[in-house]
Amino acid sequence: CGIVGYIGKRDAYPIIINGLKRLEYRGYDSAGVALYDGTDIQLAKTKGKVADLEALADRKIKKNGTLGIGHTRWATHGVPNDVNSHPHYSQSGDLVIIHNGIIENYASIKKELIKRGYTFTSDTDTEVLVNLIEDVKKNEKVKLGKAVQIALNQVVGAYAIALFDRNKPDEIVVAKLGSPLAIGIGEDEFFVASDASPFIEFTNNAIYLKDEEMAIIRRGRDVKVRKIKDDSLVAPYIHELQLNLEQIEKGGFDHFMLKEIYEQPSVIKDTYRGRLLANKGIIKLGGLEDYIEKFTNADRIIIVACGTSWHAGLVAEYIFEDLARIPVEVEYASEFRYRNPIITEKDVVIAISQSGETADTLAAIKLAKEKGAFVYGICNVVGSTISRETHSGTYTHAGPEIGVASTKAFTTQITVLTMIALKLAKVKGTISHSDYMLHLRELETIPAKVEEALQSDAHIKVIAEEFKNARNFLYLGRGYNFPVALEGALKLKEISYIHAEGYPAAEMKHGPIALIDEEMPVVVIAVNSNHYEKVVSNIQEIKSRAGRIIAVVTEGDTLVKEMADYIMEVPHTPESLTPLVTTIPLQLLSYHIAVMLNRNVDQPRNLAKSVTVE
Ligand code: G6P
Repeated sequence: CGIVGYIGKRDAYPIIINGLKRLEYRGYDSAGVALYDGTDIQLAKTKGKVADLEALADRKIKKNGTLGIGHTRWATHGVPNDVNSHPHYSQSGDLVIIHNGIIENYASIKKELIKRGYTFTSDTDTEVLVNLIEDVKKNEKVKLGKAVQIALNQVVGAYAIALFDRNKPDEIVVAKLGSPLAIGIGEDEFFVASDASPFIEFTNNAIYLKDEEMAIIRRGRDVKVRKIKDDSLVAPYIHELQLNLEQIEKGGFDHFMLKEIYEQPSVIKDTYRGRLLANKGIIKLGGLEDYIEKFTNADRIIIVACGTSWHAGLVAEYIFEDLARIPVEVEYASEFRYRNPIITEKDVVIAISQSGETADTLAAIKLAKEKGAFVYGICNVVGSTISRETHSGTYTHAGPEIGVASTKAFTTQITVLTMIALKLAKVKGTISHSDYMLHLRELETIPAKVEEALQSDAHIKVIAEEFKNARNFLYLGRGYNFPVALEGALKLKEISYIHAEGYPAAEMKHGPIALIDEEMPVVVIAVNSNHYEKVVSNIQEIKSRAGRIIAVVTEGDTLVKEMADYIMEVPHTPESLTPLVTTIPLQLLSYHIAVMLNRNVDQPRNLAKSVTVE
């Protein structure tokens, strides 16, 4: 979910609505806003998107007030409907709250509150929380901030909350545990949001609350940050933000996703700029320099991640083992954390996350740290929770990724992981000098090769037209391109809602081959590599069962070209770097199919960009 708040001199409504639009990537099942002008609280909320909320607010409320909070929801408790949308009132109607996260022990608290005479209008854990705060405030006769502090000490779960009280028109209280929360500091005005994008045009100064911190924000006065546990005052660090607004707008493309696909040549360059000096044979990653021995002495590297970032981890498994000869295991963060995994001080854990906020990845990091492992983060969002929770790490420098389906984050993650592997290989002596130099030079040519791969766009559109009505797709790859097949299938599923499965090409004969008939498009990654002949045999197996083949091939390929129904060409590159180019046509294919099917490409149904629930 995404939350926004404002307290100051201006009308809160436009700030909240624009802020919610920028946060829509965090969830868009429902949206709501509450405004307070010191006399009346006006509240509007609805199932659907921020645009639906705007339409409702136009009809229903006056939209005045210099204090306001807003919410865009990704449903956890209760179906996405109007009643379950945020904000929620307390029973008396005095308190109004928005909440991102989950209150795990809400059922027992709810039971207790019902005994004390509270009734509930929604199925949400949030309504339980706001009534708990109200109950504490009444019974203990304390101020709002104190009541929030006491109540939160009874709560188990994760949250970022913002609330205000009808009796306190100049105050917003916020608190954080697990979900992100930033406070923008303007002149006589304050902003609250899940990330800085809603207030970036108003101020460059922000406080990022830490876990178990809360803040009392007073209009025209100050922000007091306190520890939820013991109420002690904290001196907050004020960050200076560098994000600009243009970066988060579409820049002439129809969709953020397409813009982000096309940004890849430049962001891959941004990712290695200043870190890779090919002609001098230097790789220098700030976060890595002091910890190289941790890696070279490690028994193994465990990579934890979710979704697309997990696929980047799988690519890294091949690179690390191949070049640096360090054993690697790649784990879904959600499985790893609950499995009672064996981790020791001799393990290095690499956590990969675009957003740096994914709850399962974060929990896996905490577990690994507890067991004494060294934890290295690869994040895109600067200052994100994971970047702060890891011992060290490297940012990807892809810039804001708004499209829910991840594209440029993936290729920049692979770029960082490749640099780390090469650096370690060099230090360990597992790569020859000439091979090392070759890889560095080749890495520098990747942006141009990605640019070239993008030039097949019009041709890929033709392929998309041909296959857009297929019900299923199979994606096959081997070696370095097996994870690319998984990622290609995931992209298609996410945005077109067509069922797609990625498989190691050789495993096809152990199952998926049964699915193949003239209805089944099979996307095969068949670039020049050690596996080329083997993949060619796999293609023959598909052909002889009448499957329709779309092959990703190296420029100039003739053999596969003859066998495939369609080909998508990519420039030649050393095998270990091929994922950076073979991914591109697969991103474009899924994009065009989704557009042709009229899907909401940037905000596909049921998904969220940043999953801060477990
Ligand atoms: C969500 C997004 C995916 C992303 C995954 C992991 O499911 O929709 O695109 O790959 O989370 O996110 P992270 O921010 O940790 O990379």
